[in-house]
Amino acid sequence: MAKVAFIGLGVMGYPMAGHLASKGHDVTVYNRTGAKSEAWVAKHGGRHAATPAEAAKDAEIVFACVGNDDDLRAVTIGEGGAFEALTPGMIFVDHTTASATVARELSDAAKAKGAEFIDAPVSGGQAGAENGTLTVMCGGDETAYAKVGPVIHDFSKSCRLLGPSGSGQLTKMVNQICIAGLLQGLSEGMAFAQKAGLDGIEVLDVISKGAAGSWQMENRGTTMLQDEFDFGFAVDWMRKDLGICLAEANSNGAALPVTALVDQFYKDVQGMGGGRNDTSSLIRRLTK
Ligand SMILES: NC(=O)c1ccc[n+]([C@@H]2O[C@H](COP(=O)([O-])OP(=O)(O)OC[C@H]3O[C@@H](n4cnc5c(N)ncnc54)[C@H](OP(=O)(O)O)[C@@H]3O)[C@@H](O)[C@H]2O)c1
Repeated sequence: MAKVAFIGLGVMGYPMAGHLASKGHDVTVYNRTGAKSEAWVAKHGGRHAATPAEAAKDAEIVFACVGNDDDLRAVTIGEGGAFEALTPGMIFVDHTTASATVARELSDAAKAKGAEFIDAPVSGGQAGAENGTLTVMCGGDETAYAKVGPVIHDFSKSCRLLGPSGSGQLTKMVNQICIAGLLQGLSEGMAFAQKAGLDGIEVLDVISKGAAGSWQMENRGTTMLQDEFDFGFAVDWMRKDLGICLAEANSNGAALPVTALVDQFYKDVQGMGGGRNDTSSLIRRLTK
């Protein structure tokens, strides 16, 4: 069992930190809004700290799951940030979906203190975090990964090192690129079925077992037909992620024409007031 800190008790971080506590790790949490850390300690035990630096003090592994690059910089190299407490041998594991650039920048800053930084974005959503079944994509040093991998397994079903620093974030970008285009195709298919007067549920039942089947079709097809989007992975988060993908493609030369278009479609969805809705709400542009 390890002495760990967890920074950021949002939709994802709160249950992830909870799994670490229930597996017997000694957990200190930090959350910007203190009421959430107090509620977490009341439920799971452990301690809460007033700053990320205080939470990270003497921890073997420091986990974080905050919003974006700037939030991550704030809790690491900002005032009272966790990096103030980094000492040789400590490992910082970041589960935020952020850029590969910030991952490399923070990896260099950690190494300068004799510590290590693993970028480790996740997929699997709120349900995956709550059930401890996330998929975790990691980048960083092999020796450091060998130490944190078994602990990450306490809230994930799959965890893998994909390469040096930034590789976890780059893999998460591939994940989001694949989802964006697929969801537009699924939206067009479902909207077409409705216009054609077909029974969408019957159609899904038939085609989901063939070559058109996908996780999105299996898990979101029915709710798309029922116009239900008050759950899942928010459009606002997806736009943040697609912005990261497009910026990375701009620098590595990859062509992302469909991803760029779908990003603009999501902008339309935000304009319709749907920023907090699940990403499958892309269909609303076609049906409203
Ligand atoms: N939700 C999903 O389904 C999902 C799936 C995969 C990946 N992700 C990624 O996981 C990350 C977290 O998502 P989430 O859904 O857990 O978000 P969330 O519920 O909005 O939680 C964000 C957390 O970050 C903290 N935070 C944000 N900015 C901060 C700052 N400047 N300083 C200190 N703390 C700050 C928030 O503190 P407060 O409580 O004080 O606001 C909160 O604890 C994001 O990068 C997201 O893209 C999310």
